[in-house]
Parts: sequence; C-alpha cells; structure tokens
Amino acid sequence: MRIDKFLANMGVGTRTEVKQLLKSGSVFINEQKEKSPKKQIDPNNDIIKINNEIIQYIDKVYLMLNKPKGYISATADNQHQTVIELVKSYQFLEIFPVGRLDKDTEGLLLITNDGAFNHELMSPTKHVSKTYEVISEKNITNNDINSFKMGIELNEGLAMPATLVKSDEPYKSFVTIYEGRYHQVKRMFHAIDNEVLALKRVSIGELKLDESLGPGEYRHLTQQDFKQLGLNL
Ligand code: URA
Repeated sequence: MRIDKFLANMGVGTRTEVKQLLKSGSVFINEQKEKSPKKQIDPNNDIIKINNEIIQYIDKVYLMLNKPKGYISATADNQHQTVIELVKSYQFLEIFPVGRLDKDTEGLLLITNDGAFNHELMSPTKHVSKTYEVISEKNITNNDINSFKMGIELNEGLAMPATLVKSDEPYKSFVTIYEGRYHQVKRMFHAIDNEVLALKRVSIGELKLDESLGPGEYRHLTQQDFKQLGLNL
C-alpha cells in the first residue's frame, strides 16, 4: 500500500494534506525519513511514525452504537442526519450500518466496514434473531402472543413465527423476530390492531445493547461480543 493512502485511510488527513506532511519531513517508516507519497509500505509490519507518534494500522472496524431517534441508517443523505455522522472518528474507513433501524427507532445498531460480517448477520438465510422493546398503544393479549407465534400475515406474505413477551410494565412488550422486513415490527403490531408508539432494539442474537452507552455513544465490539453474535473473528 502507498504511504499516502495508508496515512489518509488512518485519518491523518486528506491525500493532499498527507502529501504536504510527507514533504515537510515529519513521516518516518521504520525510523527512516520518507518524503515520497508513492513509497510502498507493508501496513502489517512496517512502523510508521509522525513526529515520533506511531500510526496504528486499523483495517476492519466493528462498533456497537446506541442509535438515538432522529438519525437514518444510511451512510450519506442530503436531508437527514445519518448514523455514520455519529461515528466521525471512523468515517475514513468507509463504515456502514449493519442493516437498518427506522429513523424513529433507537437502540442497538452495529457499524462496520466488513462486508462479510454484514452478510453473516443480515443474510435472509441466516435468520439471526433481533429483539425489540416495544411500547404499544394497547396492552398485548394472549391472543396476540399466539398470533405472533403462528406467523403474522403481512402484505407480501406470512412473517416467520415471532416471540412476543409481555412486560410487567403496562403497554410494554418484547418481540423477537428472525428476519428483517421493512418496518416489520410496526407492521406486525398494526396487523393485530395495535400500533407501535416507541421501538428500541435491545439485542441481536445473544448480543445485548450495552446499557452504559448513552444515545449516540458507541464502542468497539469485544471478543465476547463476537461470541454472542455466534461469530469467530
Ligand atoms: N421493525 C420496525 O418496524 N422498525 C425498525 O426500525 C426495526 C424493526
């Protein structure tokens, strides 16, 4: 990889800024001053320093975001704020959200730049479970629980069986679905003559939203988190 690309990808600056930095003589490759932006490096083995500070190589990134309401799950948009704008320090790695939460939905959203990771969790054939906390207009009944278990009829066909669990708090329930159709939870509630008033994703597979993250905050996934997702990375 070219040194200028490496430095730009690691967020040191734009390609132009990085070229200027090289020209100024502040960049060192294995303790040797390097001025050429074309110099090839091995990011896994070479030690790159700027004014004595090592620039760590980050290739893939995996983040857990507590998505706040009001942000859309996209990388760029002319009208709305996107979830990627909340993760400014990693934007240079071409990150994207793993699946989508509606603008008014909050909670657990994974962010990565790894297409294979995205595929493992989002592929319709994998049926990774997702659990949502729901505040609904009406309290749910045993009949509703049974309807979800049987599979709710949606416009485009029968949804897979889902688990609906009543909470002790009025109007609150937890629903676990195994697919990811457009507005799925809202449409399932609508189909049983109820409406979702607030929606928060609380888990994906066995991975739970880290409740120490405030809305808009994020952290890196840990090895334990990968295990909970059933992935070996
Ligand atoms: N189901 C919905 O209706 N909305 C979401 O954001 C996620 C699941």
